[in-house]
Order: sequence, then structure tokens, then C-alpha cells
Amino acid sequence: MIRSKHLALLLGLLALSPLVFGQEDNCVTCHREFEDEQTGPSHMFVRDIHAQKGLGCADCHGGDTAAEDMEDVRRAKNYRGVPTHRQVPDFCARCHSDPAYMHEHNPSLPTDQLDKYKSSVHGQRMFRERDAKVADCISCHSVHEIGSGLMPHSSTHPLNLPQTCGKCHADAEYMAEYGIPTTQLDDYRQSVHGIALLERHDLGAPACNDCHGNHGAAPPGVTSLAAVCGNCHVLEAGLFKGSPHQEAFSQNDLPMCESCHSNHLIVETSDIMVGSAEPAVCVQCHEPDDGNAGLQTAMSISTAIKELRLAQEEAGKILAEAGAKGMMITDEEFLYKEVNQALIQARTQVHAFNADSVMAKTTEGLTKAETVQTNAASLIDEYYFRRKGLGLATVFITILAVALYLKIRRLEKNQ
Ligand code: HEC
Ligand code: HEC
Ligand code: HEC
Ligand code: HEC
Ligand code: HEC
Ligand code: HEC
Ligand code: HEC
Ligand code: HEC
Ligand code: HEC
Repeated sequence: MIRSKHLALLLGLLALSPLVFGQEDNCVTCHREFEDEQTGPSHMFVRDIHAQKGLGCADCHGGDTAAEDMEDVRRAKNYRGVPTHRQVPDFCARCHSDPAYMHEHNPSLPTDQLDKYKSSVHGQRMFRERDAKVADCISCHSVHEIGSGLMPHSSTHPLNLPQTCGKCHADAEYMAEYGIPTTQLDDYRQSVHGIALLERHDLGAPACNDCHGNHGAAPPGVTSLAAVCGNCHVLEAGLFKGSPHQEAFSQNDLPMCESCHSNHLIVETSDIMVGSAEPAVCVQCHEPDDGNAGLQTAMSISTAIKELRLAQEEAGKILAEAGAKGMMITDEEFLYKEVNQALIQARTQVHAFNADSVMAKTTEGLTKAETVQTNAASLIDEYYFRRKGLGLATVFITILAVALYLKIRRLEKNQ
């Protein structure tokens, strides 16, 4: 078993050997002699996934790898040279859109990048309007050091991707002629998602492509960008769909989550977002006398959540006091966690935009918070009761000791 594994590894290395040892493949050997060690294609190429999978310069550029001089290379019929910006998509797609070829190398790799690219704003402008400033394959993937999204050096690795898109989209001068905002990268960096991904390296948080799709068409399971949040925030999206906002928003062309949370500058949420006065988001669309139950509902939800928060705080204080007095509070601590859970669930239930749904959760939390309060208070009573008992016992023992002492003294005198 082990031997055959070693054999496979050896065969793999042999397949790579022309590249690894710089022999036979004259392209690399010769180019290494004169190219810059930092920026020369032949040096960068070591990090490229194509090199790592055993492909060489000629697989992309064409030409005869045995030729000994560049003039001979250029004369070869299959020499493709260097593609222009507009030629790059087809240059890459020659392999990547060829299912038979790609299947041999990696059956799980999709072969739809060119199709999707063509459906994106980038591809449409590139082909229909001959726009030279939109992204082509190598604007996003780099060239000669292309990596998969899993390789840390890759321009498409989640930690590097926002910067890759930002190269153009955050450059106000470059984007000036299009009249679209150039704040996406800055906003994203300050958002809960950007902070989670770029500062805490939480790969569960979305980078640009998780929302926009890798190649411009929306990501899997999403028909319009408005639905993309529901890929990860399943509960909120589900509640929204059953809420009165579902129909109202689609009739008024309001996007599902963005209307209240924005798209790039999504900040951490808090209770002040719901209510019938500024800064609650509800007042952006609802007015006191607009004839629907919007603000009434907002008010009830806000009150219910506030009430639970207060009860939770109170329970927390009493519980901490009981703990500090050394009482056994394991059961109450457990129950206290459930209060917190109810609060979290109530905040999610906000997305039903229905006071009863929220109150079902807050009532559950309130009952538990009250139990914690009552139990913790009686533990504190018990503590004082015990201390009183201990005090009495001490007085009693002292009196006894004194009496005993006097008795002994008397006995000694009598003797
Ligand atoms: C004996 C050295 C040598 C060999 C072998 C060689 N090249 Fe080059 N190549 C050069 C030099 C030098 C240049 C740039 C100067 C020039 O214009 O000739 C160059 C330029 C290029 C360019 C830039 C575009 C162009 O046409 O000028 C590409 C692409 C290229 N080589 C690819 C290849 C590939 C692919 C192979 C192998 C099939 C290869 N080279 C083999 C020396 C070599
Ligand atoms: C995955 C395909 C691919 C492979 C493999 C590849 N190249 Fe390229 N190469 C390109 C593309 C695309 C361009 C055009 C870059 C641009 O427009 O900025 C390019 C441009 C070039 C250029 C001219 C521009 C420059 O950066 O100086 C040279 C020279 C070159 N390649 C040499 C090589 C050599 C040598 C190798 C092997 C070590 C190689 N390439 C392997 C795709 C490839
Ligand atoms: C000669 C065929 C060929 C050409 C041309 C080609 N590729 Fe590739 N590419 C491959 C193969 C083979 C793999 C490795 C697939 C595997 O084994 O996982 C690959 C892998 C990749 C990957 C990594 C995929 C992943 O996530 O694992 C990216 C990204 C990529 N290529 C982009 C490009 C770009 C951009 C171009 C054009 C500049 C290009 N390729 C040109 C054959 C090619
Ligand atoms: C706007 C930026 C962008 C453009 C343009 C782009 N890609 Fe990608 N591509 C990505 C991102 C982001 C990923 C996901 C991370 C990864 O796997 O590298 C990706 C993934 C891939 C993959 C891995 C498999 C997959 O589909 O997820 C291949 C292969 C690939 N791209 C090839 C291409 C080719 C070929 C083109 C040009 C026709 C192209 N890309 C254009 C950003 C881009
Ligand atoms: C080479 C520069 C460049 C890069 C890199 C780039 N883009 Fe673009 N992008 C453009 C240009 C130019 C447009 C056209 C603007 C327009 O028509 O509104 C555009 C358009 C778009 C649009 C459509 C905007 C609209 O009008 O609604 C989206 C969305 C977009 N890009 C997202 C991305 C994402 C996500 C990435 C990274 C994965 C990325 N872009 C990388 C240059 C770039
Ligand atoms: C959490 C999801 C999400 C993330 C992450 C995200 N976007 Fe967006 N983006 C959206 C939505 C939603 C829209 C609005 C689309 C619409 O209304 O059709 C949008 C719009 C855009 C537009 C069109 C112009 C505009 O500002 O309205 C561009 C360009 C864009 N995003 C680029 C980016 C770039 C670059 C990144 C990464 C730095 C990024 N986005 C990250 C969801 C996201
Ligand atoms: C790829 C998965 C993913 C996508 C897509 C996504 N998010 Fe998130 N979102 C997360 C993660 C993970 C967090 C938690 C970040 C943290 O730990 O601070 C989060 C946090 C949030 C928060 C803060 C929650 C709080 O506790 O205050 C809001 C609001 C939010 N997202 C809204 C959205 C909206 C709106 C969209 C669509 C435009 C969206 N998300 C798209 C994964 C995603
Ligand atoms: C982006 C605009 C917008 C925001 C923000 C908004 N709503 Fe609404 N809401 C609407 C629209 C439009 C309707 C439908 C109004 C109608 O039918 O008269 C509606 C309807 C409702 C209804 C149903 C009213 C009824 O009488 O059937 C409730 C309840 C509601 N909203 C609660 C809220 C709450 C709570 C908030 C704040 C968390 C909020 N809304 C924020 C736009 C919004
Ligand atoms: C009408 C306004 C409105 C809409 C639309 C809306 N939200 Fe919220 N969202 C809120 C409010 C208000 C809060 C804060 C509740 C609190 O803290 O008491 C919140 C809190 C959140 C939270 C943190 C609490 C939790 O559930 O964990 C997330 C995540 C979130 N929203 C995601 C979404 C997503 C995803 C969508 C789209 C499906 C969406 N929201 C649509 C108003 C809205």
C-alpha cells in the first residue's frame, strides 16, 4: 500500500521534472536567464497553480518547448503570443470552457466561467461596448501567479479579494466616467462582514464574491442579488417571507434586507433600530397617521424587547450577588443562559414584523428571568439566614466558654 503511494508521488514528480529541474522546457530555462527575479513571468510562475499542476508556458502561449531561440518559437504555427485585454477571456476559456479537457484534470471544477462572465456587467461591457476598463480574467486572477481561492497568496483568496476588486472600484478617478459610487471597499471594511473577515479572519463572513458571485452572475441558489443575504441568514429571510413586508416590498421594488441594513456598510444591530421614533429604521417609511399598523407594531416590539432586557439585567445582578456570596448557583446560571437565548431569538423574530411573534419569545424569557430573580433572591436570604445562625452560634459558644472558664476557676479556688 505504502509503496504504491510512494510510486505515485515519484511519478508525479517525474511528470513535473522538466519544470522543476528547468530542463527540456527551454521556455523556462531561457526566460529565467534574463527575467527579473521578482516580476519576471518565469520566476513568478513557480507559485502559479498551472505550474503546480504540471502545465508550462507553452500550454498557454503555444510554441515549441524544444526550440532554442525565441525567433523559432514565434515561427511555430501554434504560437499564440500575448493576448490583448479583449482576447484574454477566450485565451483562458480555450481550456476552462472545454469540459472534456477539464474533466481529465479535475472533474469537480466548473466550466462555466466564460458564460457567466459574459452575463456580468464586466463581460457585457467588454464584448458589447468594447470597454477596455472592465475586469477581464487576469484583472481578478492575476497572471503567472494564478492561485485557487484556497491558496493564501492568491488574489482571489477571501482575505485578498476585497482589495482585488477595490483596485478599480475604490479608484474614483478610474471609475469617474461610470457615475457609480466608489465607496464599496471602504464601506465594506467598516462593516460587520469586513471586520469579521479582514480583522478576525472569519471565513464564514462574506467577501465581495460571496454576494456578487465569482463571475458576475449571482452565487448559487440566488436569482437576484436582493436574495443573497438569505444564503447565510436563513432564519431572518424565512421570517421576512412570511411577514407583511414580503408583498409590500416587492410591490414597491424595495430590496429585502438592504432597505434596513444597507448593502456594504452593514453595521452591528441594536434594539434602537426598532421603535416609533428616530433613530429607529421603521420611521423611514412609516408615519403615525398613515393608516396601517406599522408604528403601533414597532412600538409594541420595542417595549417587549426592552422589558426583557431590563428583566435580564436585574436577574444578572442578583445572580452575581448570590455567586459572590459563595452560594451554589449552577442551576440558576443555566436558566440565565436560556433568558439570553430567548432575547437572541426575540431579536430575530423582529423580522416577522408582528408583535405577537416577538412577544411569544419575550414572554418565555421574562418567565425564566423572574424564576432566576426569585431563586437567586432566596439564595441570598439563605446566606443571611446562615450568617445570622452562625452569629448566634458564636455568641452562644462564647458564653458557654466563659461559663466553663469561670466554673473551672471556681473549682480550682475551692481546691
Ligand atoms: C533562448 C531563449 C528563449 C527561449 C527558448 C524562449 N524564449 Fe520567449 N522570449 C525570449 C526573449 C529574449 C524574449 C523577449 C525579447 C524579444 O522580443 O525577443 C521573449 C519573449 C517572449 C514572450 C513575449 C511575447 C513575444 O512574442 O515577444 C513570450 C510570450 C514568450 N517569450 C514565450 C515563450 C515560450 C512559450 C517559449 C517556449 C515555447 C519561449 N518563450 C522560449 C527568449 C526565449
Ligand atoms: C495560464 C496561462 C499562462 C501561462 C501558463 C503563462 N502565461 Fe505568460 N501570459 C499570459 C497572459 C494572459 C499574458 C498577458 C498579460 C497581460 O496582458 O498583462 C501573458 C503575458 C506574458 C508575457 C508578456 C508580458 C509580460 O508580463 O512581460 C511574457 C513574456 C510571458 N507571458 C511569458 C511567459 C512565460 C515565460 C511563461 C512560463 C514560465 C508563461 N508566460 C506562462 C498567460 C500565461
Ligand atoms: C492549457 C489549458 C489552460 C489554460 C489556457 C488556462 N488554464 Fe487555468 N487551469 C488549467 C488546469 C488544468 C487547471 C488545474 C485544474 C486542477 O487540476 O485543479 C487550471 C486551474 C486554474 C485555476 C484554479 C482553479 C481552482 O480553483 O482550483 C484558475 C483560477 C485558473 N486556472 C485560471 C485561469 C486563467 C485566468 C487563465 C487565463 C489567463 C487560465 N486559467 C488558462 C488549464 C488551463
Ligand atoms: C471580477 C473578478 C473575476 C473575473 C473577471 C474572473 N474571475 Fe474567475 N474567479 C473569481 C473569484 C472571486 C473566484 C472564486 C475564488 C477562486 O476559486 O479562485 C473565481 C473562480 C474561478 C475558477 C475556479 C472555479 C470556479 O468557477 O469557481 C476558475 C477556473 C476561474 N475563476 C477562471 C476564470 C476565467 C477563465 C475567467 C475569464 C473568462 C475568470 N475566471 C474571470 C473572480 C473572477
Ligand atoms: C479592472 C478593473 C475592475 C476590477 C478588478 C473589478 N471591476 Fe467591477 N467593474 C469595473 C468597471 C469599469 C465596471 C463598469 C461600471 C459600470 O458600468 O457601472 C464594473 C462594474 C461592476 C459591477 C456593476 C456595477 C453597476 O453598474 O451596477 C459590479 C457589481 C462589479 N463591477 C463588481 C466587481 C467585483 C465584485 C469585483 C471583484 C471580484 C470587481 N468588480 C472587479 C472594473 C473592475
Ligand atoms: C453582503 C453582500 C455584499 C458584499 C459583501 C458586497 N456587496 Fe456589492 N452590492 C451588494 C448589493 C445587495 C448591491 C446592490 C445591488 C442592487 O441593488 O442591484 C451591491 C452593489 C454593488 C455595486 C454597484 C454600485 C453600488 O455601489 O451600488 C458595486 C460596484 C459593488 N456592489 C461592488 C462590491 C465590491 C467591490 C465589494 C467588496 C469590497 C462588494 N460589493 C461587497 C451586496 C454586497
Ligand atoms: C457568506 C455568508 C453571509 C452573507 C451572504 C451575508 N452575511 Fe451577514 N453575516 C454573516 C456572518 C458570518 C456575520 C457575523 C459577523 C460577526 O461575527 O460579527 C454576519 C453579520 C451580519 C449582521 C450583524 C448581526 C448582528 O449581530 O448585529 C447583519 C445585520 C447582517 N449580517 C446582514 C446581512 C445582509 C443584509 C446581507 C445581504 C446584503 C448579508 N448579511 C449577507 C454572514 C453572511
Ligand atoms: C423601506 C420601507 C419600510 C421600512 C423601513 C419599514 N416598513 Fe413596514 N411597511 C412598509 C410598507 C410599504 C408596508 C405596506 C403598507 C401598507 O400596506 O399600507 C409596510 C407594512 C408594515 C406592517 C403591516 C401593517 C398593516 O397594517 O398591515 C407592519 C406591522 C410593519 N410594516 C412594521 C414595520 C416595522 C416594525 C418596521 C421597523 C422595524 C418597519 N415596518 C419598517 C415599508 C417599510
Ligand atoms: C424593516 C426593517 C428590516 C428589514 C427589512 C430587515 N431587518 Fe434585520 N433587523 C432589523 C432590526 C430593527 C433589527 C434589530 C432588532 C433588535 O436588536 O432588537 C435587525 C436585526 C438583524 C440581525 C441581528 C439579529 C439577529 O437576527 O440575529 C440580523 C442578522 C439581521 N437583522 C439580518 C437581516 C436580513 C438577512 C434581512 C433580510 C432577510 C433583514 N435583516 C431585513 C430590521 C430589519
